[in-house]
Amino acid sequence: MSLGLTEHRKEDREQRLAEIRDALGSRSIVLIGLMGAGKTAMGRRLAAWLDLPFIDADAEIEAAAGATISEIFAEHGEGYFRQGERRVIARLLNGGPQVLATGGGAYMNADTRENIRAHGLSVWLKAELKVLLKRVHRRDNRPLLAGDDHERVMKKLMAERYPIYAEADVTVESRDVPHDVIVGAVVEALADKLGCAKMPAKEPSRKKV
Ligand code: S3P
Repeated sequence: MSLGLTEHRKEDREQRLAEIRDALGSRSIVLIGLMGAGKTAMGRRLAAWLDLPFIDADAEIEAAAGATISEIFAEHGEGYFRQGERRVIARLLNGGPQVLATGGGAYMNADTRENIRAHGLSVWLKAELKVLLKRVHRRDNRPLLAGDDHERVMKKLMAERYPIYAEADVTVESRDVPHDVIVGAVVEALADKLGCAKMPAKEPSRKKV
């Protein structure tokens, strides 16, 4: 089993994170995955660990439109939202290095996928239905779920989207464990993908005799 980053010495961990930053250059780390996968929560933490800016694409779309996503869907429809989403993400991808969390449908657009490939490293936060449902129940700001059976919608989206999400550079299971554990796994996967050296494991503390 691979060790979480928290199990390594602080200096090693800092070095690991610095290596990732160097190898990343001006690229963005782009988090993709279904609603409730933890893209924003993990993204914020990951950005803090890497000392990079964190950008949430949905928040940027809302700022650009001067309206919430629910309002955009209600007033102009999903197609209009998707066009705005594609344009905003294309613009944001020129701002790397950064950690960019995208809305669940963004990676389904072929232009956006191509742009992410060109300007970033994609990380799919893959979660089980049970975990997703537990998380999306907490908020009611998602038009695709409004007034519908969450389980039915999420199952349908999983069937449609998981084969496409699987094209991501890196896949990490987003389980129901402390966020830092998942972020540690993302860092390990990114380091692997970027060809950073393996980190020595922390030596077990010796008991005094
Ligand atoms: C959507 C996910 C939402 C938001 C919009 C549509 C989707 O973002 O972009 O409601 O199509 O899956 P989160 O994945 O951050 O909830």
